[in-house]
Amino acid sequence: MAERALAHGGLLINRMISPKRLDEYRQASRHYRVWTIDEWTLSDIDCIAIGAFSPLTGFLTEAEYNSVVDKMRLPDDTIWSVPITLAVTEEYSDLEKGEKLLLRGQDGIDYAILTVADVYQPNKQKEALHVYRTTDVAHPGVANLHDRPDYYVGGNIEVLQRPKPEQFADYYYTPSETRRMFKELGWRTVVGFQTRNPVHRAHEYIQKAAMEIVDGLFLNPLVGQTKSDDVPAAVRMESYFALLQKYYPENRVFLGAFPAAMRYAGPREAVFHAMVRKNYGCTHFIVGRDHAGVGDYYGTYDAQHIFSSFSPDELGITLLFFEHSFYCTACQGMATTKTCPHEKEHHVVLSGTKVRELLRKGETPPPEFSRPEVACILINGLREKESVEREKIKK
Ligand code: ADX
Repeated sequence: MAERALAHGGLLINRMISPKRLDEYRQASRHYRVWTIDEWTLSDIDCIAIGAFSPLTGFLTEAEYNSVVDKMRLPDDTIWSVPITLAVTEEYSDLEKGEKLLLRGQDGIDYAILTVADVYQPNKQKEALHVYRTTDVAHPGVANLHDRPDYYVGGNIEVLQRPKPEQFADYYYTPSETRRMFKELGWRTVVGFQTRNPVHRAHEYIQKAAMEIVDGLFLNPLVGQTKSDDVPAAVRMESYFALLQKYYPENRVFLGAFPAAMRYAGPREAVFHAMVRKNYGCTHFIVGRDHAGVGDYYGTYDAQHIFSSFSPDELGITLLFFEHSFYCTACQGMATTKTCPHEKEHHVVLSGTKVRELLRKGETPPPEFSRPEVACILINGLREKESVEREKIKK
């Protein structure tokens, strides 16, 4: 069994300015140029600040960016598969090396100070092709890449304050906190589970299969920016509470939010997700079917195959791969093609679109697909979301 690894790259990063020095930094920052950051960048800053993105200490410089895009590695060969970059407009392309840039949120709060290492123009077509395996702007990750300004600024950041979550603040842990909690719980082995969805029966099945061989499950839903038709994080959180209360043993699951934005980068994002969960203290990580995928841009198991590019030692986390899971009416239980001999017509498989269609009509998907408690929360959440959207249109 894998022992808990050190943070990725060896050291758990902490870029928070110590409270004693905050005043001094705030005073000095009054003279800095200001760049207003979007929600996505703020979540990147937060993940860097708390060490979720260890070993990153800031936004990628040009050399780091090229190395990550070309080789899925930082220049020192550490695995890093997704570029974490700060995009700025042309007016900021004259920033000088060593200059300080104050990063302000759209809420007017000063979040971080960046020490400029370099400013460069990315090749977005190349980034799209390497990271997302497509240049199609219908891909949400590629669309976002093109929506961002055209210059990137590299450099270390120092963080003045973390964003305050609107809801469920108690579920935002730093990697050093989760590491401490896992230790206190006596968990030597912990499996991390990434999700941007409610936990349906298939998710539950692979989580519980993994729980049979490790000490605990770290249910770590991504709560940063997602595409508009994904279930909002707040609704998902409610659905996790309901499910955990009724169907999981209390002392074997730890629920914590992952504040990052969703990239939909499939295989590359799976590697990124695994490294981040290693930072949170997981020894194992689940990758199922089409992990972090969208539409049909990736093959069903591409996000598993990509891990063969790396050695187990450099990954430092044990991957648990699962086949596409479903309820089989002939087996009368959850299964995969590895365990079930029956034909497809016995398998209860629903597409995301079909599920959304049912929920929108106020109908629950079959209990073999989703627990009724979860379905009920989703129907109410969807109704609320739609009524908020209707109000917005009226205004
Ligand atoms: S993701 O974008 O965060 O990967 P999702 O929340 O649906 O999407 O998936 C979370 C994890 O469960 C991923 O590892 C994914 O591969 C896996 N998964 C989702 N549905 C299934 C399924 N039916 N069978 C096997 N694995 C699945």
